[in-house]
Amino acid sequence: MMRERRDIRKGFRTDPIPHEVLLRVLEAAHTAPSVGHSQPWDFVVIRSAETRRTMHELAQKQREAYAKSLPKGRAKQFKELKIEAILDTPVNIVVTADPTRGGRHTLGRHTQPQMAPYSSALAVENLWLAARAEGLGVGWVSFFDEREMVRALGLPEHLEVVAYLCVGYVDEFPEEPELMQAGWSQRRPLAWVVHEETYGRRALPGEAPHDLLSETVASIRPLDAKALGEAWERQKRMTKPAGALGMLEIISAQLSGLSRVCPPPIPEPAAVAIFAGDHGVHAQGVTPWPQEVTTQMVANFLGGGAVCNAFANQVGAEVCVIDVGVAGDLPATPGLLPRKVRPGTDDLSVGPAMSREEAIAAIEVGIETARDLVAAGNKALLTGEMGIANTTVSAALISVFTGVDPAEVTGRGTGINDETHARKVEVVRRALELHQPDPADPIGVLAAIGGLEHAAIVGLLLGGASLRTPVILDGVSAGAAALVARAIAPEALSACIAGHRSAEPGHVAALNKLGLRPLVDLDLRLGEGTGALLALPLVQSAARAMHEVATFDSAGVTEK
Ligand SMILES: Cc1cc2nc3c(=O)[nH]c(=O)nc-3n(C[C@H](O)[C@H](O)[C@H](O)COP(=O)(O)O)c2cc1C
Repeated sequence: MMRERRDIRKGFRTDPIPHEVLLRVLEAAHTAPSVGHSQPWDFVVIRSAETRRTMHELAQKQREAYAKSLPKGRAKQFKELKIEAILDTPVNIVVTADPTRGGRHTLGRHTQPQMAPYSSALAVENLWLAARAEGLGVGWVSFFDEREMVRALGLPEHLEVVAYLCVGYVDEFPEEPELMQAGWSQRRPLAWVVHEETYGRRALPGEAPHDLLSETVASIRPLDAKALGEAWERQKRMTKPAGALGMLEIISAQLSGLSRVCPPPIPEPAAVAIFAGDHGVHAQGVTPWPQEVTTQMVANFLGGGAVCNAFANQVGAEVCVIDVGVAGDLPATPGLLPRKVRPGTDDLSVGPAMSREEAIAAIEVGIETARDLVAAGNKALLTGEMGIANTTVSAALISVFTGVDPAEVTGRGTGINDETHARKVEVVRRALELHQPDPADPIGVLAAIGGLEHAAIVGLLLGGASLRTPVILDGVSAGAAALVARAIAPEALSACIAGHRSAEPGHVAALNKLGLRPLVDLDLRLGEGTGALLALPLVQSAARAMHEVATFDSAGVTEK
């Protein structure tokens, strides 16, 4: 029954619900557990067309506001979604919670006042399951301003509305959530959310605990040869000269091999994950920018005022900012994932930047971010980063993995003078001499000379590859991270697309070593995911062409 319960918005019949059926459903709701046995719920059964029209208008207003708040890639998808069935169902039920019920000394609620609405939510679940058993569909609508709802329904002001439910008979219950069927979201596997003894020690009952990194690496597979072959075949049959789409043909074949289907899904919606961290090496004077700028720019990303925001708006992508190691404190803000492993690294020119455990923890932040963004329905991930002094770290990483001398891979970052540049090269050289990093031990390299945002990008790449989702790389930091990821799991590169070539010299060395050809080459040297964002429409176009371009046979065009 639990597996077959569904949230229903479509396909309601208009036939009324017999009183005895509705009574059984409400009785089931009323047997729910509750804090201190306070039974804080009330059920308001609404049948009036007029009240339902009023509620429908309120929900419509919220729907429009929500649609406006979405990135374009998401808004397109949302337009097709039905999110309520207020007018299509014979009965609507409002479930409330009375936070004062049971008096002052309600057992259990004294420590956690939220237990009252939680109890009412359990009543909703009972109602939902009982309705399913009766063949009744239930659709939960939360597109309301809660206080506006209380007023519109004439409810006592001290009540909280927990749920607004649309109930009616349906002919069938879909096997999967409607949001999943629409590609809006994916189901998270149980193994992601069960922890043994301590948080992070994931294990299903009866299984040995596994660490996230090894599990992720173990699930990375090469491109699917069959889908790849189909893609090349299809390219040949599309109404254009063979090879005329150049690099885009390679990209669309890669997307097919990655997704195991041809044509591949269009990588939309997409999200750019901007990992932010600070660097102890800043103390060596490798940049004229004060360290606080990292924190300030994160606030700018969240406020929507940075270049990445403008580009993300243009290409319809979501901006997700992750504090994996900013030195300053960041207030909780929508769009910010607080995942600080530590407040900045230590100075890599005098000792290890971080411990091995911290490097792994930062990689895991990246893996978790990939999981979250993909489960939330994103079909492409873009790398972004912010961290004053992080091009010094990128140069050091690139030098280790490419074997190219620090003088050739250390660039001018945000635009430094000759003197600072010479110092920067010297700092990188000193760090490499001090640590003698071994490229065969990529985690050790990250710990010695890496950055928290670099490690997190490594995780994003590994996570994206394990979920068979394309990852568009931004600039030099992403290039450095891709070298580390490749050393951990060579097949991870099969998910990577080089978004652009940055003006940083190290980036060329990294891309050459990785064998990746960048899509955009505009002398950008900003970071923040800007180059990857510009490349996104190219990647999407490559996939779309596979879907929409006719073949010679279907269009009746003569081949040469
Ligand atoms: C607290 C809560 C609020 C919800 N609000 C809405 C809503 O406003 N509109 C909607 O279409 N679905 C809403 N849903 C339904 C979810 O989208 C649905 O439960 C989810 O996609 C999983 O699908 P399933 O219930 O069929 O398994 C809500 C569900 C819950 C639990």
